[in-house]
Amino acid sequence: MRIGTVSDLHIDRNRDYTDNDLISTFSEVIQNQEIDVLLIAGDVSNHYLKTDDFLKRVQDRSSTPIVFVPGNHDYWARDHEVTDTNQINNFFNQQEYSLVGQPRLLNSEWAVVGSPGWYDYGYGNTVLYDEEAFSRKQYGFASWNDRHYVNWGKSDQKVSHEMLVQLYKDLETVKDKKIILMTHVATHPEFVMPLPHRVYNYANAFLGAKAYESLYADFPSIEYSIMGHVHFRKVLNEQKKTLISACIGNHKHWKIKDFKAQLVKSLVSFDIT
Ligand SMILES: [Fe+2]
Repeated sequence: MRIGTVSDLHIDRNRDYTDNDLISTFSEVIQNQEIDVLLIAGDVSNHYLKTDDFLKRVQDRSSTPIVFVPGNHDYWARDHEVTDTNQINNFFNQQEYSLVGQPRLLNSEWAVVGSPGWYDYGYGNTVLYDEEAFSRKQYGFASWNDRHYVNWGKSDQKVSHEMLVQLYKDLETVKDKKIILMTHVATHPEFVMPLPHRVYNYANAFLGAKAYESLYADFPSIEYSIMGHVHFRKVLNEQKKTLISACIGNHKHWKIKDFKAQLVKSLVSFDIT
């Protein structure tokens, strides 16, 4: 069985393609690569309904099951009126492609478990900045835009912790299987920016959830860990685990300005038996 993974499609930033072009291009690539199940680690678009429509149409068009966890951008309320992020989270959790509370058995040996995960500031430079400074999400003149468009009604750390608790519950139900873990945020220090760094001393706070590192020790059956959000692409083998970030990312950073070419370059596939 071939598993494919990709994240951070940001389809609404890649304006050279119409929606229909994107769906047929995407479907064609996953069919050409003979992917049996596609795992998408968040940030399809800035509008939850656009994300939902894209996932369902690609699934129909390609006849390939998709498993998804939302990213922070999928929660954004910039272009619609649903400003309570919990409502959007509930919407995603009710979809068939969602992983939260419903780990997916791929075959008799393998399961996929996932959560968007939320940042807990743990990868920021905690010597230079305290929790209060991170919670402002504003650095000089720049701001971390979730500040404007995401509203959980509680602290980031609380959201992060609640999602971690759910992950522990979900992992517990399949711990006798080989596990593919998928989160949107980074859960490993090699998947945030190296410090010291002028900007990322601060901004790393919003890239990952350091507390989630405990999952690896507590569930040694995690053989693959898939994450997104950071917009770099990386595959790292560490002990018996393979960690993957397969971000398509923002067209501003592409050398070749073509969505299809970038999808082919970023998509990672691997076979499980
Ligand atoms: Fe993201």
